[in-house]
Amino acid sequence: MAYETIRSEMRGRVGLITFNRPKAMNALSHLMMKEVCKAAEDFDADGRIGAIVLTGSDKAFAAGADVKEMADYAYSEAFLDDVWSGWERLTRVRKPLIAAVGGYALGGGCEVALMCDILIAAENAKFGQPEITLGILPGMGGTQRLARSIGKAKTMDLVLTGRMMDAKEAENCGIVSRIVETANLLEEALRIAEKVSDFSLPAVLAAKEAVSEAFETPLAAGLRHERRLFHATFATDDQKEGMAAFVQKRSPQFKNH
Ligand code: HXC
Repeated sequence: MAYETIRSEMRGRVGLITFNRPKAMNALSHLMMKEVCKAAEDFDADGRIGAIVLTGSDKAFAAGADVKEMADYAYSEAFLDDVWSGWERLTRVRKPLIAAVGGYALGGGCEVALMCDILIAAENAKFGQPEITLGILPGMGGTQRLARSIGKAKTMDLVLTGRMMDAKEAENCGIVSRIVETANLLEEALRIAEKVSDFSLPAVLAAKEAVSEAFETPLAAGLRHERRLFHATFATDDQKEGMAAFVQKRSPQFKNH
């Protein structure tokens, strides 16, 4: 499918989505987020794909929602049309989403990265929620996902001052899982995505669902859900294959059922 603002391609068993508005620092227009969600949903439904990588350029993952597009919104328009609600479709994608962040991930760009499951940062990555400098506040989960991931102190600091944090600080506070050399960002992200794609897809989907649940439910309910999903894996051929392969000292051949 041809897109205007992104590139979408298959790299082996990995779906690769690249923000492609270089002149605007990959500012997230509505069209762009519509295209991102559609591409991600298509990969989610494609049995050949095991994981999805979302990336930008080495200058910018995405410098936020498109300020020029939203500058003239009236309150009634924003409220009644709930114009940004469609972006959350990304959080309903069941396959793992890996954000490969180089350069700026600001405002909505940081929030989209936080919707992903694994966040890999290039050494030059910069994260921030600068909305306060525009007379607004984060509106796509920045106050909520950041507070749950990195706590109140750091979230208030970022949201109230609008300052940026570098890759090291983002790793130290727990939103980034690995930092890689800027030149190797995409290669590393694809390598990680390929590794995930080699595992049993039902186990991968259940694992993503279980970890995601930790952000939504009290501990007892989360533990019960995890146990049910764990029990369910014993209904799959892949569990039998995975354990047989371990005992027989060979590599497993998962069939995704
Ligand atoms: C629209 C943007 C943009 C944005 C950059 N550009 N960010 N256009 N929306 N968010 C455009 C600039 O206008 C400029 O276009 C071109 O990209 C290059 O940007 P420069 O500013 O010239 O580059 P530089 O000096 O290197 O600075 C890079 C930057 C800066 C630090 C990333 O552009 C910046 O601060 N951008 C805005 C970041 C921001 O406030 N994000 C939050 C947005 S609000 P022209 O045509 O002028 O050359 C948000 C809310 C989300 O995200 C809520 C969702 C519900």
